[in-house]
Amino acid sequence: MSLVFDRHRRLRTSAAIRGLVRETTVTKNDLIMPVFVDATIDGVAPIPSMPGINRYGLDALPDEIRAIADLGITSVIVFGIPDHKDDVGSDAWNDDGIVQCGIRVIKATCPDLVVIADDCMCEYTSTGHCGIVRDGEVVNDESLEYIVRIAVSQAKAGADIIAPSNAMDGYVASIRQGLDKAGYINVPIMSYSVKYASSFYGPFRDAADGAPQFGDRSGYQMDPANRFEALREAASDEREGADFLMVKPAMAFLDIVRDIRNASNLPLVAYNVSGEYAMVKAAAANGWIDEARIVKETLTGIKRAGADLIITYFAKDVAARIDRGE
Ligand code: PBG
Ligand code: ZN
Repeated sequence: MSLVFDRHRRLRTSAAIRGLVRETTVTKNDLIMPVFVDATIDGVAPIPSMPGINRYGLDALPDEIRAIADLGITSVIVFGIPDHKDDVGSDAWNDDGIVQCGIRVIKATCPDLVVIADDCMCEYTSTGHCGIVRDGEVVNDESLEYIVRIAVSQAKAGADIIAPSNAMDGYVASIRQGLDKAGYINVPIMSYSVKYASSFYGPFRDAADGAPQFGDRSGYQMDPANRFEALREAASDEREGADFLMVKPAMAFLDIVRDIRNASNLPLVAYNVSGEYAMVKAAAANGWIDEARIVKETLTGIKRAGADLIITYFAKDVAARIDRGE
């Protein structure tokens, strides 16, 4: 009896053949680079827990934006670090707030770069929470009024896309109504639809100075144990008019990326967050892993899971390696 089996290795015999049958590729069009704009500094300040990532003063922002655009990256997501915090996060919706000024500088420097504005309050509230706190609780409906104000003021400053991340119920419907009323019917909403209460945000909270001063975010962000809840979150955002959905973090939640991909036809974003970046950087600095190959494998995995776009602190590095043909 002759032995019958499949010869899978035929398609792996040369780099050229492997290239022909490769199913997933990460391109520059898939990448969104985060940018931190800081009202408290001039120049550039490194973020210790995120080696290679900096906060930029408004004076230093144009050079960084040109560097990003010169690498062929087509979009950035902007976070602000204000010089003043209060109970209602007023610098988040101030037309002359740091993020609004940053957006104007970016659009003046590179008008074609797509500017996505993170719409949240935690960097701006004295409580460090993503909404308004009453009697120790982050209250939903009152927080919606502020998240809408922020969105409108970011759109007014020139943001191309609004990305709400405060995880309140009804924020997509509220922001859509607010943007439309203010005349921004063509400004899309990229909702952080499936946002888990994750330990992977640690370095970001140092970077943006937005850690909660009491408690945690598990009353509004999702329990990492839940899968069906992710489908409900994505479905309600889609019904409310979201233009993009997002899953965050990425690496420990790739099953959820695939679930949302299968459940919706909207463009899907995955956020490869600060803790995921920091772990790779730390291991690479110790010589324990090959950073470039780990990053490629990770981003390829995120795309293969079903993401169309990836927000990643590695975006510049990856674009530079694509240019070098690596
Ligand atoms: C603001 C916000 C956070 C991140 C993006 N937007 C922090 C948080 O929810 O605590 C995390 C990004 C990262 O870790 O890279 N709500
Ligand atoms: Zn927040």
